[in-house]
Amino acid sequence: MDMNTDHGLPDTTVSVRQALGIDSDLRVPAFSERTEHVPAIDEAYRFDRDVTLAILAGFSQNRRVLVQGYHGTGKSTHIEQVAARLNWPCVRVNLDGHISRLDLVGRDAIVMKDGQQVTEFQEGILPWALQRPVALIFDEFDAGRPDVMFVIQRILERDGKFTLLDQNRVINPHASFRLFATANTIGLGNLNGLYHGTQVLNQAQIDRWNIVSKLNYLAPEAEASIVNARVPAMQERADGQALVNSMVALAALTRDGFIAGDVSTVMSPRTVITWAENIAIFDDVTKAFELSYLNKCDDAEHSIVAEYYQRALGEELSSSIAHHGE
Ligand SMILES: Nc1ncnc2c1ncn2[C@@H]1O[C@H](COP(=O)(O)OP(=O)(O)OP(=O)(O)O)[C@@H](O)[C@H]1O
Ligand SMILES: [Mg+2]
Repeated sequence: MDMNTDHGLPDTTVSVRQALGIDSDLRVPAFSERTEHVPAIDEAYRFDRDVTLAILAGFSQNRRVLVQGYHGTGKSTHIEQVAARLNWPCVRVNLDGHISRLDLVGRDAIVMKDGQQVTEFQEGILPWALQRPVALIFDEFDAGRPDVMFVIQRILERDGKFTLLDQNRVINPHASFRLFATANTIGLGNLNGLYHGTQVLNQAQIDRWNIVSKLNYLAPEAEASIVNARVPAMQERADGQALVNSMVALAALTRDGFIAGDVSTVMSPRTVITWAENIAIFDDVTKAFELSYLNKCDDAEHSIVAEYYQRALGEELSSSIAHHGE
């Protein structure tokens, strides 16, 4: 498939049940060839049914899909891993406060042409992606600067045309251009205090997303199966399965403790995976816990975290660690 503007239309279909392992008889459009920008397939990936069906509607019906949820729950990688299985080229742009309007749209640059210095407009990622069969993911959508968000507003419209003012050009989106976003908040700002730097989004902005899908913490057994899939070394341990279940149970305690205001650092699914990876590296559950999570916590909260550790793993977190800094 030529990544440039001419063809780039899906030329086959895949069974959602076979390709993604979720319970559905759907067949969705896909590309038969793997090309540049198609993400690598992660065989250990476990798809959440509802979020995946929402993302698939994004690809097959050209819906604008926003996936919202706590950090490390799999929002960005869900979209990428669906694209990987549809052979759909996919590019991620992180909208944290550093991305400017010029980064997105493009700017004039001085280039050498036939030995001469000339000024030439260099397209930014947005016009580049819009003209190609590419799925563009705006990560941390709720951290985008207002000037950047207004640029995006236009392409969220139904026809999604984009005017390159500097070039007096109107760009029509490629038929296989797709737009997704991920966010930790729903655009009402950092209500729970976890997501510093997120903005209150203009409601007209949120309104333009056709589908808002929530991906929060999965059921403990689903999270445990992800940890086991991601860190096969855990299954080689005699206590492997029981240990992973206890680690997921501890993560749940930190999440409830956060909601209750007892702790200010939650253990995300990403952190549970990291803890398991560190266990494999250091062959020491407590040490790995300290390095993956405890050291990210406020010293004043170490004793309550030690209590969670005792409740979930049934053993004491050594007093030197538990009372560090008191
Ligand atoms: N369902 C899953 N199956 C396998 N691995 C997963 C799954 N969900 C998350 N992970 C792993 O957890 C990590 C975090 O996932 P991801 O980056 O997608 O989270 P996120 O929700 O986008 O987080 P953030 O809000 O911080 O951007 C990744 O390493 C990913 O591989
Ligand atoms: Mg993400």
